[in-house]
Order: sequence, then structure tokens, then C-alpha cells
Amino acid sequence: MTSFYPRIIAHRCGGALAPENSLEGLRIAARLGCRGVEFDVMLSADGIPLLIHDETLERTTTGHGRVAELTAAAIRQFDAGGPHHRAYAVSPAPTFSEAMAACKELGLWTNIEIKPAAGHESTTGAIVGRWLAENWNGHGIVSSFSTLALTAAQQAATNLPCAMLLESLPDDWQTHMQALDAKAVHLAANAVTAKNAAALKGTPWACYTVNRRQEGDRLFALGCHAVFTDRPDLWSVNEM
Ligand code: G3P
Ligand code: MG
Repeated sequence: MTSFYPRIIAHRCGGALAPENSLEGLRIAARLGCRGVEFDVMLSADGIPLLIHDETLERTTTGHGRVAELTAAAIRQFDAGGPHHRAYAVSPAPTFSEAMAACKELGLWTNIEIKPAAGHESTTGAIVGRWLAENWNGHGIVSSFSTLALTAAQQAATNLPCAMLLESLPDDWQTHMQALDAKAVHLAANAVTAKNAAALKGTPWACYTVNRRQEGDRLFALGCHAVFTDRPDLWSVNEM
């Protein structure tokens, strides 16, 4: 099977070169020559999908509290750019639809990782799936550690291209893949063995999070189709 991946995928939008999960990150990734990006989507208390990784605001924003307990308007009053670097102050956490519009404009293949807050798996999947069914051109793939979220997204959007997102490859991975109707497998890079690579031959697979060239070289030599990286600048444009 041929790969449908860009080889180098900017993790959390622009990797470490911009605030994670930011519109600035998408622009930097595109400027570097990345053809693909990944980001994390979580719901606010009022059901608005936003780009944010953690269930709480403290690490990446100037705010405090839980994403699932605050409205989108309240979350977006806080600065999600300045904590990375003052050059990015003041920018709110992007909405999912803003990020998707930027990806479309920049021509970026997009890995939408549904990142539900605990207890909100099905609702998050359903809302993201519904948005995709109504608006998306399908240039990318949807993934989640939560099978509940992924299943809800698939129910809301027929023929949604999905990847299984795993920390390591279980022996019965093919059964899970069929049950989920997944087209690809995303694995933690440090757990990937030559045995896994041999088993995955013929299946599109990608690894996160690869921040050293040497690790990327090892994975591509094993047959990995793409890597998620915080350091897309480690690869030249014609390697992407
Ligand atoms: O989707 C790949 C990767 O982003 C999964 O890990 O924690 O960075 O979302 P995390
Ligand atoms: Mg992610």
C-alpha cells in the first residue's frame, strides 16, 4: 500500500517553533515546507472544539482551571501564545474551525487528534465528526487515544479516514483496526521495534514524537511512513 502521509508532520501545529496548538504554528510549519500538521482538539464547557492538549489551562495559557468546565469565550480571554514566548503574546487558543480554515488556506494535510477531556469522549467525537461531515475536504486523517471518541466521530461522519492512536502495538492490533475501521496506525516512536515494523508492512503507519534526526532515520529505515515532530526544521524541504 502506498503511503498517504506527508513524511514530516509538525506536531501540535508547528512543533516547538511556535506555541503548541496555535495558528502561528501552522504558518511556521507551512513556511518551513511541511506538508502536514497534527493538533489536539478538546471541547469547552459550551461544546466548542478548541485546540488544546491538556485538560487544564495552566501549562500552555495564562489561565487557570479545566477546559471542560469553562466556556470557549472564557478560555479565549487567556493568552495561549505568551507562555511560549513573549513574541507570541497575546493570542487565544484557536477554535477548531479557525485551525481547519488555516490548514485549508495553507494547503496542509491535517491529523485531527480528538483529545476528549475525561468523561466527554463520545460528545467530543460526535461534535468534531459532525463538523467534519459538514465542512471537511478530507485532506488528512482523524485519530484519538479514545476509541469511544473515534467511534462517535465515525457515526457522525461516514467514511471518515481514521487512524488508531496507540502507545505500543498490541498482538491483536489487526482485530482492533478492523473493529474501528481504521486505515492507519500511529505509535509512540520509542516503543517501535523491528518486529512491529515487519508486522505493519502493508499498513500505513506513523510515529510520534520524533525530535532527533537519528530517531527519524531509524524509523524511516524500518518502513515508517511519517513522523510527528516538534522539530520539523531538522529536515530539508525536499525530505518532507
Ligand atoms: O497524535 C500524535 C501525538 O500527538 C499523540 O500524543 O500527547 O502529543 O497528543 P500527544
Ligand atoms: Mg496530539
